[in-house]
Amino acid sequence: MRKVLKSMVFVLPLILGACTKKSTDEIVIGHFGTMTGNDATFGQSTDNGIRLAIDEANKKGGIKGKKLKLVTMDTEGKTEVTASVVTRLIEQENVVALLGEVASTRSLAAAPIAQKSKVPMISPSSTNPKVTEEGDYIFRTCFIDPFQGTVMAKFAMETLKAKKVAILREVSSDYSVGLANFFTEKFKVLGGEIVADLSYQNQDVDFKAQLTEIKSKKPDAIFIPGYYTQAGLIARQARELGIKAVLLGGDGWDSPKLSEIGKTAIDGSYFSNHYSTESTDPVAVEFMKKFKEKFNKSPDGLSAAGYDAALVLLKALDSTTDLSTKALRDQIAKITDFPGATGRITINDKRNATKSAVVVKVSGVDNKFVTTVNP
Ligand code: PHE
Repeated sequence: MRKVLKSMVFVLPLILGACTKKSTDEIVIGHFGTMTGNDATFGQSTDNGIRLAIDEANKKGGIKGKKLKLVTMDTEGKTEVTASVVTRLIEQENVVALLGEVASTRSLAAAPIAQKSKVPMISPSSTNPKVTEEGDYIFRTCFIDPFQGTVMAKFAMETLKAKKVAILREVSSDYSVGLANFFTEKFKVLGGEIVADLSYQNQDVDFKAQLTEIKSKKPDAIFIPGYYTQAGLIARQARELGIKAVLLGGDGWDSPKLSEIGKTAIDGSYFSNHYSTESTDPVAVEFMKKFKEKFNKSPDGLSAAGYDAALVLLKALDSTTDLSTKALRDQIAKITDFPGATGRITINDKRNATKSAVVVKVSGVDNKFVTTVNP
């Protein structure tokens, strides 16, 4: 018996090892995203962008003679689920790197796990500054909210000539709270006044109480740094209450569902974003063409951002001498002036991308390009 046990102790790890051993002829990349739930277009759009980049690379023979394999896991828009799928991607799928999430709150749930395991993580679109502060394995290929807040504060003051702005923020979202604060700071410096600063919770659908209070303060504009489902509902309820103020938002509004939910109430509103489908940049034009061929629809900003994050990762994988996560991390950190669909990407010393933003105007399902703002 003892002998049997002894040999099992020896054999078992071998069997287990064989099951979990990294396949040597492919490189596994993990994507964790919100594929279902309230913010479902975020994960789905991002995944399409990533898939396009990976399929293209595989058609060209992969990287270092190896095929790329994408494993996508659904975070369901929940922080607890995010933590568990990220752990699974690292421990069971043996991913070389992680792409995700969109929402800053979920990237913040994932980052400490990636950092502890020393697996590079690139968020395509989380804009809250804290995300990359989690450690030296955490990157993003988008701008951050102090910049985005400044863009919208200046736009409100200088372009729209708004002097009085009300804010309606989602308290449970790191993104929303951060962006509301950065906007406020800048808008006050520019001489503007915040006449109301109210909040709502994650699953709220009725905003009448807050909007009634906002109406009494007669703002020129209302800044709503939340995600598209609530922005659409808020727009409708604001118009129902007779509020005429211009509605403003950030990248969280970017979804084909925005106008579906907000209907005509959201038309004429403005938000800052990572890219515009009206871009004439050759990289963006080529990306839109390829995306339409593959998915038979126009890419939103998240697809473009997902595509770019994947391209940056592929470029780093191509440049590494070995495929260790440390070597890969070092190559991501070196990305400079990389031509992406959302613009040129340079990873700075804080592992964020220095990039321009666009402001778009909502008009039906299309967003009309208004301006580009450089950092
Ligand atoms: N920037 C948002 C966040 O950090 C996520 C987002 C990006 C949503 C782009 C839509 C479009 O939470």
